[in-house]
Amino acid sequence: MDDYWPMFGLRLRYRDLVLRPMREADLPHLAAVLPDDVGHDPRLAMFASQTFAENERRLFCQGYWRALGTWEPASWELHLVIEYGGELVGVQTLEGTNFPALRTVDSASWLIRAARGRGVGVAMRTAALGLAFDHLGAVAAISSATRDNAASLGVSRRIGYADNGISRIVDTSGDVVELQNLRLTADRWAGAPVEVHGLIPVLPWFGLGS
Ligand SMILES: CC(C)(COP(=O)(O)OP(=O)(O)OC[C@H]1O[C@@H](n2cnc3c(N)ncnc32)[C@H](O)[C@@H]1OP(=O)(O)O)[C@@H](O)C(=O)NCCC(=O)NCCS
Repeated sequence: MDDYWPMFGLRLRYRDLVLRPMREADLPHLAAVLPDDVGHDPRLAMFASQTFAENERRLFCQGYWRALGTWEPASWELHLVIEYGGELVGVQTLEGTNFPALRTVDSASWLIRAARGRGVGVAMRTAALGLAFDHLGAVAAISSATRDNAASLGVSRRIGYADNGISRIVDTSGDVVELQNLRLTADRWAGAPVEVHGLIPVLPWFGLGS
């Protein structure tokens, strides 16, 4: 399989974390430990036959398959699992829409509760940004979180993102909530010693190299 999808060979190492592309074999474990505060895109269909938690686990799996099934160099979504202390503790996603032209990455992430509050959130986002800014030629990274999501906003601010306005969305409960948008430009990226392995074969997957 890896001959056809060399992305599976990508590895990021930073501090005591390893980030690697999610594989189908990771889904049962990750879906089972998926926390109840991760949320999902409210535009996605909920099945009446499933509980809220079952819907979220199904949508999580579908998000994995969708990312692989729709990948193209112009538009991609890379789901990286986080290995920490010998365990899979969460997911860091990096997204590029019209990336060769816009050179902007968005991100999303979650951790099991037991792994939170120890700087893992900052480290995993930093690792993904190291890939984006130092290897993929990103010029900006954006992020957004509800204004009460102190941990997500804390990660962004710690890394140096600046506030970039407020937007309104309808959340998964149908309520209108405000999102804090943030942005970090390459000139303000502090840099980080992120080890990246297996990048050369996948550069064309990001619209780079030949
Ligand atoms: C968002 C998430 C991945 C962050 O990971 P984390 O390991 O908890 O975060 P860190 O320990 O790296 O902390 C990041 C910063 O936020 C601060 N922070 C973390 N939790 C906080 C809380 N509950 N209240 C206030 N500040 C908090 C930390 O102090 C730290 O800032 P500092 O370095 O300036 O002290 C994790 O909390 C999570 O999985 N949340 C649920 C899913 C989610 O909301 N994802 C983001 C959707 S936009």
